[in-house]
Amino acid sequence: MPDAMYRFPKGFLWGTTTAAHQVEGGNTLNNWFLWENEPGRIKDGSKSGLACDWWGGRWREDLRNAAEGGQNANRFSIEWSRVQPSSDRWDSAALDHYREMLAGMRQLGLKPVVTLHHFTDPIWIYEAGGWENDETPWHFEQFVRKVVTAFRDEVKFWVTLNEPNGLVVNAYVDGRFPPGKKDFKVAFRGVRNLMRGHARAYHAIHELQDDAIAGYALYYRGFLPKKEWFFLDAMVTRMLSRNLNEIFSTAIENGSVKFILSRDLVKEAIGTQDFIGIQYYSSDLVSFNPVKPGELFSRREYPPDARLSENGFMANVPQGLYQALDWARHFRLPIYITENGVEDSEDTLRPEYLVQHLHQVWRAANFNWNIKGYFHWSQIDNFEWERGWSQRFGLWGLDVATQRRIHRKSVDLYARICKENSVSSEMVRQYAPRVFDLLFPS
Ligand code: BGC
Repeated sequence: MPDAMYRFPKGFLWGTTTAAHQVEGGNTLNNWFLWENEPGRIKDGSKSGLACDWWGGRWREDLRNAAEGGQNANRFSIEWSRVQPSSDRWDSAALDHYREMLAGMRQLGLKPVVTLHHFTDPIWIYEAGGWENDETPWHFEQFVRKVVTAFRDEVKFWVTLNEPNGLVVNAYVDGRFPPGKKDFKVAFRGVRNLMRGHARAYHAIHELQDDAIAGYALYYRGFLPKKEWFFLDAMVTRMLSRNLNEIFSTAIENGSVKFILSRDLVKEAIGTQDFIGIQYYSSDLVSFNPVKPGELFSRREYPPDARLSENGFMANVPQGLYQALDWARHFRLPIYITENGVEDSEDTLRPEYLVQHLHQVWRAANFNWNIKGYFHWSQIDNFEWERGWSQRFGLWGLDVATQRRIHRKSVDLYARICKENSVSSEMVRQYAPRVFDLLFPS
């Protein structure tokens, strides 16, 4: 049988994403260090510890693996608390560390995509109220200026904030992230200040660097009404999408920041994105639930036919990524999938999840939607925030105690995809035979 191919556009970026706190290890300077040390905050009682020991230099091995695996780009984050450990101190040794990493990436042929804020804040910012404090956007801008000035010759592609919408929900609505609050009013302050911080960062980047590309990375959750014919299900689905997926993009379109019942104008946010960064993991069926005002009158469940991940944390719903891209294309900007992946220590679901999601990316790209790259979460297992080490998202596994890297078969699958710039029937037959008929129906 001839080998069928889903080919990706020329010059497509293939990479993986990590975040500083999740891979570096040994950081005592940010709010997550404090949080991990509070009893009961991390599900399995674990701590980030050495993480993947990138601060100790093991990024070399992981990025070498990435480059040998055919990747041509890498998204990582620069940790604010390392670069500015206190309000009046810049740590040049920390900047040197990142400079070395960037030089390493250049040698390996990996195009750097740099995130300037991935969930963590320096303790001095946190203790002053974090993103509830109206001064934080200004402080963030100073950090961004420092980093961009240091690395503008090496980096063109900047992600100001990682999932500000996810951060607001986790930190101020569900209380799973520091400061662990559950208060819509506080959440609104967070939304507004994150928006201001993003806008300040965006303008500073462009002031300092002519050829920069800047934007933020959006957590996009797929929502579908459970009963399509029922207007209340449709209404709460729409409400969730507006308040979770669309808040920041709406503000960037017209300056209006709206969250639940609060609203404000952040004019400086208008037009502050040069690309759309989509982070998609899973989707929910949504139904109306009159007794849950705190959840916007919604009940969410996974589609009954979707395969769940190892800990039931997420469902494999690839069409949701297509839905996300369909939404994103209306902004008429280049689109990057800046994160997508699944927790799976046994690596049984990951190969299926990977090819099925890439199939959706391919469909979208073949309508000539402007999709420029895909970054898998993640290159290697790393510290999963409030879920600690209980979830494993890596192409490569990690034995946390020994730092040994564990080769999973997804490493080879993703390498083939990146090197051949395509997903072929032969790869799917070999690595994900259960979904072969779905992707290549006879
Ligand atoms: C975050 C990552 C996280 C991943 C998997 C994303 O929402 O950006 O930091 O590790 O989800 O949980």
